[in-house]
Amino acid sequence: MFHKVLDIQKIRQDFPILNEVINGKPLVYFDNAATTQKPFSVLNALTHYYEHFNANIHRGIHHLAEKATSAFEASRHKIQTFLNARHVEEIIFTYGTTDGINLVAQSYGRTFLKAGDEIVISTMEHHSNIVPWQMLCEEKGCVLRVIPINDEGELLMDEYEKMLSEKTKFVSIVHVSNALGTINPVAEIIEKAHAVGAKVLIDGAQASSHIDIDVQALDCDFYVFSLHKLYGPTGMGALYGKKDILNAMPPYRGGGEMIKEVTFAKTTYSDLPYKFEAGTPNIADVVAAYTAVEYVETLGKKQIADYEHELLVYGTDALQSIEGLRLVGTAKEKVSVISFVMEGIHPQDVGVILDQQGIAVRTGHHCTQPLMQRLGIPGTSRASFAVYNTKEEIDKLVVGLERVKKMLS
Ligand SMILES: Cc1ncc(COP(=O)(O)O)c(C=O)c1O
Repeated sequence: MFHKVLDIQKIRQDFPILNEVINGKPLVYFDNAATTQKPFSVLNALTHYYEHFNANIHRGIHHLAEKATSAFEASRHKIQTFLNARHVEEIIFTYGTTDGINLVAQSYGRTFLKAGDEIVISTMEHHSNIVPWQMLCEEKGCVLRVIPINDEGELLMDEYEKMLSEKTKFVSIVHVSNALGTINPVAEIIEKAHAVGAKVLIDGAQASSHIDIDVQALDCDFYVFSLHKLYGPTGMGALYGKKDILNAMPPYRGGGEMIKEVTFAKTTYSDLPYKFEAGTPNIADVVAAYTAVEYVETLGKKQIADYEHELLVYGTDALQSIEGLRLVGTAKEKVSVISFVMEGIHPQDVGVILDQQGIAVRTGHHCTQPLMQRLGIPGTSRASFAVYNTKEEIDKLVVGLERVKKMLS
């Protein structure tokens, strides 16, 4: 099958795992919102690193240490360009989105927020953008405010505006919902928050593989994402923060790498970005992240987004034609995530029966329990598409769901 620009069959050959046979059937991988598969180039980058220049970074003067350090720092430059950050030291390597949010909540939040200050999140947040703020509220006496949504899964922007006041000190919002696929109007959210003097963090875990991100144009104060949802390795992510804000924040973790000088009387800290990178990082994964970003850039974000949108439209039509199936999350602006429930059938049973047919979907609350409570359902089944998925695979999903119905209803 040929797309206007992308040769999807050729792209599929980049991903060795797509040749796997599951329960006697070729794998259909529709769990991309949880994690994407990795192309050969990323796998090779990992092996190449370990085979040719594995060494601890920054302090070594030997050849391998210098090579590892320069590859590690090249990734930082790559991510700077990917996000269009103004300064390279505004990119902090983390273990992922969750780690980035905790860093900001603990370092910025504990230093600059006080009792009575309000932190705004939304109903559709992932647990990793709820719990760190709740922990902070418990400790500091801050108040958590939650933007409601409509039945389509869109933020009620009027309610958001009403919520904002001089008490609002922080807004932390998901760019794209993992459970619904909704793309939130983050530029508007940021502008309105700034108008009352609040700082803004954007959780870009689901956005980074689908949407062009320009942190300068958005003017967000922080942006976080995970590489494993962007065709890169697990256990690695990045936090962007505006330089002056990061400079004002205390370190989050103490240890090696993040210091200038240690005495028993006093320790002075490194400059950005190392101040926030204590200990030996995930060097190999950071190095391979370069290749993951390069892979996406080579295909082109716009081309990827256009093709995934085609899959979204095709999949939405196809699934809607199944009697007794209801889509959950029908926002006007969406990425290629389709959540659904089937009348009288538990999502888990849907997942098990699809798995028997080699089709991987995610079922459950998707780490968004408060959202499920708002929607009045225990969970959904979720098919999320990446650039290597095809319409033929969506056809298989439809056949699989008809089988689920036959077996269980
Ligand atoms: C919207 C959103 N935020 C945060 C996370 C957490 O990402 P990670 O587990 O990589 O830290 C996820 C992961 O599914 C997500 O979808």
